[in-house]
Amino acid sequence: MTFLTEGPMNNPMTPNNPLTLNNCVRMPALGFGVFQSAPEETAVAVETALTAGYRHIDTAAGYGNEREVGEGIRRSGLDRDEVFIETKVWVSDYGYDQTLHAFEKSATKLGVTQIDLLILHQPMPQHFERTLSAYRALEQLLADGKVRSIGVSNFMPHHLTALREQTHVVPAVNQVELHPYFTQPAVQRANTELGIVTQAWSPIGGITFYPGWGENRASVLDDTTIGRIAEAHAKTPAQVMLRWHLQQGRSVIPKSTNAQRIAQNIDVFDFTLSDAELDAIDALDRGVRGGPDPDDVDPSTWDLEIPEP
Ligand SMILES: NC(=O)c1ccc[n+]([C@@H]2O[C@H](COP(=O)([O-])OP(=O)(O)OC[C@H]3O[C@@H](n4cnc5c(N)ncnc54)[C@H](OP(=O)(O)O)[C@@H]3O)[C@@H](O)[C@H]2O)c1
Repeated sequence: MTFLTEGPMNNPMTPNNPLTLNNCVRMPALGFGVFQSAPEETAVAVETALTAGYRHIDTAAGYGNEREVGEGIRRSGLDRDEVFIETKVWVSDYGYDQTLHAFEKSATKLGVTQIDLLILHQPMPQHFERTLSAYRALEQLLADGKVRSIGVSNFMPHHLTALREQTHVVPAVNQVELHPYFTQPAVQRANTELGIVTQAWSPIGGITFYPGWGENRASVLDDTTIGRIAEAHAKTPAQVMLRWHLQQGRSVIPKSTNAQRIAQNIDVFDFTLSDAELDAIDALDRGVRGGPDPDDVDPSTWDLEIPEP
């Protein structure tokens, strides 16, 4: 399946050739994730990624490493406007005033005055009014120029419909679990219809293999179809998966704290997958999510308070 958005600006075929969001802000399609990057490793990882050519970092208040992301960006020596910073508001900070304050907490920890993309980490279906209030706060932050774009994460089509009925600004991005074993075609279709960029979390299937998350999972990294395609292009399975996303118009934010793998994951712009190869990877979808069902998340799911800076 191909959901590539039309238009010359949306050709994410070089690392910093950005996707154009629905409010004309440009976002590098390939970013760098830091979920489960220990704070003490994060500044080095971010600096390494920026040196390797990444220009987009995805963090979250809930990851506990925004301060170190800011540190890594400063250490890189790049100007602030050369790096696209994305972060997320955690559910315990939902509500209009709480979410305005969540921006201040994140911006202070990151050491910036403006955030490029601020998104709601999850819908909170049991408390959807608070989710809406949080989103209205994002709209206000956008109007005030404190953020350049706003979006959501883990929103299913029915959450998007409810959001659209009761708020004004169409989210620029919906960040969802998306890898060859879980491709969420209905979510991708809903995003495309609304002009929302689909951003893949666990783009190389991290949720299918990260340690300590349950035994007997099938790692998409070991998939034989992907292995065969990788061999044909003299690339790794991770590179093939990232290329599959990019050729289908999605944003990706692979995570690594290993310098070699950080470099490997951005080295995906010198080969092209054929339509048959894209189709073969699409066909691997098992329709089974690795992460939590977005309809089940509320503050008690993860008892997490976001500390003051
Ligand atoms: N919105 C949400 O709810 C949500 C949920 C999960 C993740 N995310 C975001 O999405 C980002 C990426 O997702 P993810 O961290 O779940 O998974 P991922 O990027 O698909 O995979 C990360 C895992 O793969 C390993 N890895 C990295 N590059 C590799 C390579 N080339 N070959 C083999 N293994 C490799 C990493 O280990 P090493 O570090 O040792 O290389 C890590 O264990 C996160 O960091 C976060 O920013 C968002």
